[in-house]
Amino acid sequence: MTLSALQDIVHQTREARRKQVLPKLTPSERDTLIKKFHPDCREQAYRPLKFGPNKGQLTVRELAALLEGDSPVPYDLPLDPDHTVDVLVIGGGGAGCAAALHAHKAGAKVLLATKLRLADSNSVMAQGGMQIAVAPDDSPVQHFLDTLKGGHFKNDRQLLKVMVEEGPSIAQWLLELGVLFDRDTDGSLHVKKGGGSTKPRLVTCSDYTGLEIMRVLKDEVLNRQIQLLEFCAAVELLTNRDGVCTGAVLRDLDNKRFIVVAAKAVILATGGIGRLHIQGFPTSNHYGATGDGLALAYRAGAPLVHIDTFQYHPTGAVYPEQLVGALVTEGIRSEGGHLVNARGERFVNELDTRDVVSSSIIRECEEGRGIRTPTGRMGVWLDTPLLELEHGAGTLEKHFPAMVRQYERYGIDIRKDPVLIYPTLHYQNGGVQIDVNAETAVPNLFVAGEASGGLHGRNRLMGNSLLDLMVFGKRAGLTAAARAASNRQGVLTLQHLRRFREEAKRYGVTEQITSPVILPAYTRTQDS
Ligand code: FUM
Repeated sequence: MTLSALQDIVHQTREARRKQVLPKLTPSERDTLIKKFHPDCREQAYRPLKFGPNKGQLTVRELAALLEGDSPVPYDLPLDPDHTVDVLVIGGGGAGCAAALHAHKAGAKVLLATKLRLADSNSVMAQGGMQIAVAPDDSPVQHFLDTLKGGHFKNDRQLLKVMVEEGPSIAQWLLELGVLFDRDTDGSLHVKKGGGSTKPRLVTCSDYTGLEIMRVLKDEVLNRQIQLLEFCAAVELLTNRDGVCTGAVLRDLDNKRFIVVAAKAVILATGGIGRLHIQGFPTSNHYGATGDGLALAYRAGAPLVHIDTFQYHPTGAVYPEQLVGALVTEGIRSEGGHLVNARGERFVNELDTRDVVSSSIIRECEEGRGIRTPTGRMGVWLDTPLLELEHGAGTLEKHFPAMVRQYERYGIDIRKDPVLIYPTLHYQNGGVQIDVNAETAVPNLFVAGEASGGLHGRNRLMGNSLLDLMVFGKRAGLTAAARAASNRQGVLTLQHLRRFREEAKRYGVTEQITSPVILPAYTRTQDS
């Protein structure tokens, strides 16, 4: 059957599906489904780490190779600093910009280094919104409970408490800086409901929330003339003889030179890991999402948490081939979009948590109820035209203009036809362990945003990452600035690297990749 004939089944079954009420899964049905179909539960994808702070713990093979990889920095690199600052922020996405802005406002001399351009990040690509309890019938407590349940009760409760309580003040800060969130006709912030949430709590800017937030944060960084190094990737941290972080080594990607930065505090805000394509999955992440901060922090001695759990967003595009892995926002399901199999049936509550929805899609495909694309990929339908029927003509253009354009480029009109989707690697649920001020086990080393772990437990809820990175970016920036004000610059050594290399040798790890990888292999030219 052609794709268009298969699409007809979606059109033909739409009216009947509108009346259907799907039964809720029991906790034990959810567990069974996840164990059988979620990619986190594929034993062969995992192996224990051979050495380092998380020695013996299981993680996916791609991350294990990264964490056990060797630094590109030679031990005898001369460590005369090219820059001396109070606070070095590594990463130019939401967490990095928030950290730099708050540290700078607190009076610190800040250097922001980023391996691509300022704002090139997962933050700028965020579509669906930011969860903040601002609605009159909502509360931080409710937000806390929803997130805890979504994270399978494995969340770090202290981090979570801080995040939900500080949410409203973050909304206020962003509004004051000029972010244009969607409003209701009475002027109050418009809120939408995300999967796994009991209340509408997502503040949005259509389906380009991250783009709008980063427009403002990027301008702010530039306007305040915060020192910026673009196309400079962090490749190693520096520590003093007591293991306290004292700076970092960057690599200028244009001329390949090392740049030594002395800093009284360092904030890693390097984002996610999608471009490692764990288990061969396509990803919604930007090209720089290669988990650099995880490798640097691990080598310096900072333990990671929840390194065995990743988020596969249920609705990644799987057709056309040019869009494979690209995000199709959960917002479409929040507004009533159905997931439909090859028989024209719904098979899951579309607003269940992402791990449940993704597992259900994988089940449909593995059990023969998926749809095969012309290039041989499997997927199920997301019934986008249903939104025009439910909420009136023009709904998709009004609420999801970015999505309409994304498909229009390839001749697909999502107002008329459903789209094919399959789970895409979207987020690392875990990361570097931090305290409530975003500090790691390595003194004066902070981590904010997706590179940090613990807050989201084993499954992040939609919209919680944008809030996470704002709250902990701010806390990292303020604490780092205060630390810098009271501390002297420490000596610069690579002793932690020597220890790491000795440990690798002791455990017989000799076949190491160079880590961080900085960019995925398919973006590299011969001379890069
Ligand atoms: O579906 C989405 O728009 C994704 C949002 C998120 O991961 O927070």
